[in-house]
Amino acid sequence: MAEIDLSGKLIALEGLDFTGKSSLAPRIAARIRAAGYTVVTSREPGGTPVGERAREILLSHDQDGLLPLSELLLFMVSRAEHTHKVIIPALGAGETVVTSRYRLSSLAYQGYGRGIDLDLIRTLNDAATGGRKADITFLIDVPVEIVLSRRGADLDRIEQEGIEFYERVRSGYLELASGDPSVEVIDGTLPLDRVSEEIARRLSV
Ligand code: TYD
Repeated sequence: MAEIDLSGKLIALEGLDFTGKSSLAPRIAARIRAAGYTVVTSREPGGTPVGERAREILLSHDQDGLLPLSELLLFMVSRAEHTHKVIIPALGAGETVVTSRYRLSSLAYQGYGRGIDLDLIRTLNDAATGGRKADITFLIDVPVEIVLSRRGADLDRIEQEGIEFYERVRSGYLELASGDPSVEVIDGTLPLDRVSEEIARRLSV
């Protein structure tokens, strides 16, 4: 078994789009499983039927005029459903949850990116999650030029944002990480295997 007890622990992966989170989550889950834990992987927005519906609205180009506040509230709908119906029951059963995105995404994207008041987002995050924070967050950090060079042609509503938006989100993430010892910054420019190896090492699995 690992030195850190990961039973009942919530691990969040954070970072800009195209930083490899969706490929990393199953790899990290496999490493934790191999260390003897039961692991659930999930994602936001999504992770529940209502969350997946919110995701469709949030990422659709039909909603190009969506107000930043409406966007924030929809992410919170997804988070409330996800936290109360997936995360908390799994943690209560002693499982380990690996989620791709959680509370930090709203602070980085809607706060630093869209300019919504951070305290409002913190209050909504607390309301949506019943105050449950991630035990460990890995911020997969990749410079914006690299992120943009990985973008294909088929972009969703948020991915189509410009370089200034992404720069604000990235520096927001780094600022949030610097003030929070539960957030560990990982160099996301490394090959995916090395990134997942580094996360496994930090989790002692
Ligand atoms: P994600 O699932 O990581 O994108 P993909 O599956 O396309 O890799 O997230 C979808 C988008 O939602 C992403 O651009 C980040 C954004 N987002 C926010 O802006 N705020 C939030 O609170 C969350 C959870 C995601």
